Amino acid sequence: MTNHTKAHTNAQTKAPGMPDDTLLRVRDLAVDFRVARGPWPWQKSQLHAVNGISFDVRRGETLGLVGESGCGKSTLARAVIGLSPVASGSVTWQGEETVFGTQRRLGALRRGVQMIFQDPLASLDPRMSIGEIVAEPLRTHAPHLGRKEIARRVLTMLERVGLNARHLERRAHEFSGGQCQRVGIARALVGEPALVICDEPVSALDVSIQAQIVNLLRDLQRDLALSLLFVGHDLAVVKTLSHRVMVMYLGRVMELGTRQAVYDAPAHPYTRALLDAVPVADPARERHASLLRGEIPSPLNPPSGCAFRTRCPKASTQCAAAAPEPAAIGLGGSIVACWHPRAADDSIAA
Ligand SMILES: Nc1ncnc2c1ncn2[C@@H]1O[C@H](COP(=O)(O)OP(=O)(O)OP(=O)(O)O)[C@@H](O)[C@H]1O
Ligand SMILES: [Mg+2]
Repeated sequence: MTNHTKAHTNAQTKAPGMPDDTLLRVRDLAVDFRVARGPWPWQKSQLHAVNGISFDVRRGETLGLVGESGCGKSTLARAVIGLSPVASGSVTWQGEETVFGTQRRLGALRRGVQMIFQDPLASLDPRMSIGEIVAEPLRTHAPHLGRKEIARRVLTMLERVGLNARHLERRAHEFSGGQCQRVGIARALVGEPALVICDEPVSALDVSIQAQIVNLLRDLQRDLALSLLFVGHDLAVVKTLSHRVMVMYLGRVMELGTRQAVYDAPAHPYTRALLDAVPVADPARERHASLLRGEIPSPLNPPSGCAFRTRCPKASTQCAAAAPEPAAIGLGGSIVACWHPRAADDSIAA
């Protein structure tokens, strides 16, 4: 077992004697893409989009996933359901290996895990009625249900997300972005999945609509005891929904901890920089507003050692020499990959 795996295992499993409530377990996951590097088709490079990531999603919790554009959030989310080309590592669903497991196991995961996408309209088939769209997962995964029972469940679900019987025959293009996302949520939930992966489900919506959808997701998560893996750009939205938060940078986990630990006492300089880039009416924080300067390095040519060191105010020669392993630190048990993490008792302005 690597240090990396050990840190996650120690910090995330329950005390001995308690039942294990882990639904999804991801260990040392790596996803590579072969991308063109020049004018010739044989000039290809390996792009490490996800680079040795480990985390758990527990029953009934929302795990938020944040990081700048291109850091690998969608690639990671898609890898969980077998849609990204996984190079190595493991994805375990309810105790059974899936990515490198059998088709039967992948089938169990596909029934238990659903996805909600960023662009609601593009993810709904324009040729199908709303009723058909929401019924589709039941037809695929619960073919034993009769037509009446499917119709009943579809209507119940539509009503649960704020739509009604009058919408059944309509097509997606007749709906607003917010309504389309409600349909996307109904389709994801109708088969009673245990985990829903939400890849920036509100980023494409008007700000006034975002809050409605976020509130809907929060209520559904609570009422149905769902687990959510919630990918978001907006740190305030992620804070509203998440029990724990994972911060990614250039395909790696920088910090993973409870919402309170990550937002109130961020230990990784990158987490601090991300939080400080959010406009706040707090003069103590404005001093850090310039922390996130500079470009994100190309994932085709990442820095040696720590991926964040080229933009990090705390970078030292040690950071260039070797990548820090994620390790459990602090009282809150956050997992942090940094040679110079901030101690839990440092003040926020330090
Ligand atoms: N199919 C693909 N082929 C080649 N490269 C890809 C592919 N999909 C993603 N990438 C690359 O992998 C990296 C991670 O991309 P990804 O879309 O997962 O990031 P993201 O964090 O979801 O970004 P955003 O916040 O913009 O949605 C990027 O460098 C991207 O260019
Ligand atoms: Mg994405």
